[in-house]
Amino acid sequence: MNLSDVARKSKIIITCGPGGIGKTTCAAALGLAIARSSDRRVLVVTVDPARRLADALGLSGIGNDASRVELDGPGQLSVAMLDTKASWDALIRAHAPDAATTQRILDNTLYQNITGRFIQSHDYIAMERLHEFVDMGLYDLIVVDTPPTRNALDFLDAPSRMADFFSSRLLRWLIAPAKGGVMGLAAKPFNSIADRILGGPFVSDITEFFLLLNTMYAGFVERARMVERLLGEESTSFVVVSTLEAVPVSEASFFVEELERRKLHVRGWILNRVLPSSISNPDLAAAVTALSSADLTELAGELGVDDQSLGRVRDALVDNATSWSTLARKEVSQTIELARGSVALYPIPTLDGEISELAGLSRLGDVLINVPAVLRS
Ligand SMILES: Nc1ncnc2c1ncn2[C@@H]1O[C@H](COP(=O)(O)OP(=O)(O)OP(=O)(O)O)[C@@H](O)[C@H]1O
Ligand SMILES: [Mg+2]
Repeated sequence: MNLSDVARKSKIIITCGPGGIGKTTCAAALGLAIARSSDRRVLVVTVDPARRLADALGLSGIGNDASRVELDGPGQLSVAMLDTKASWDALIRAHAPDAATTQRILDNTLYQNITGRFIQSHDYIAMERLHEFVDMGLYDLIVVDTPPTRNALDFLDAPSRMADFFSSRLLRWLIAPAKGGVMGLAAKPFNSIADRILGGPFVSDITEFFLLLNTMYAGFVERARMVERLLGEESTSFVVVSTLEAVPVSEASFFVEELERRKLHVRGWILNRVLPSSISNPDLAAAVTALSSADLTELAGELGVDDQSLGRVRDALVDNATSWSTLARKEVSQTIELARGSVALYPIPTLDGEISELAGLSRLGDVLINVPAVLRS
């Protein structure tokens, strides 16, 4: 069992996990490896990729559409970057009832603020985009990177939060004044006083915004429900990514539990940036032991240095190698300990060299799809 098997059974793979541990890199590398090793049409949806990675994937221009990456292999790879603002605008253009409403929403200051800055709006739009890409029917596999949110599981709740919001009393209350009636009459002076105090058409903007948004109510709720169903499908796999450090591990285990509690399919846990297995290899330990007690007289003579200097170099090397192998063995036992859980683990070493370039990403991708799972013993 490896991540290539997981990919074969999936139409959507969602990589999620704590911040800064390699979600975007792993999502891109996985998509690349699958497109190179199968005839599938793969789309990777990245969130805020590092500049160099974006360049390597041909994402340097601003834009929201998917673009093809040239590659050697039978499959196809497309990459899209999630541009929250552009996605919201596109969504409004596609679903507002008419051109005038579209323009009024796009011009609304509250709308501009929410879509530009709200982290929740990012979560929601990521799910909308996923729905859109699935709908296009152009891809056999979509690998979705997730944003580094405050609570990294927020994005899962985004669809239902949107649906709840539309049916909430708060929204009804906000748009009631604009709809008129007793409440409206009472609220109008309040609006203008509030606007004056807050220095701008603040409350009117809020009211207008929600009133306009309400014209798209049915579509929002319907799509939110569809995305929710999509996330729960058998062909949607969640892959949690973390390193082996204490904080990321505890965040990731919380993720795994939470995803499983929601009956979502967690198909793997990538332990990124572990030490290479060669370091914990017993042969290396044996070599280090032999070196630590070796007679250096002959070698020192050959090199033209004195025994003591060479001895100090050897001791430093032995110390260094011993610490690394102790650390690597600790990582191995930590991995075995984690493997007691229900999820297959995939330890991925830190690779040398620049992995933000396409060649480096390919190397990482090959490791990712081939590494055997560490399973519950
Ligand atoms: N296995 C690896 N070997 C070497 N470098 C790696 C590996 N995995 C990730 N990196 C490097 O770690 C850095 C962070 O990776 P990345 O941007 O993918 O993290 P992220 O989880 O998406 O971060 P954020 O939560 O901020 O979105 C990048 O510079 C990337 O090149
Ligand atoms: Mg990222």
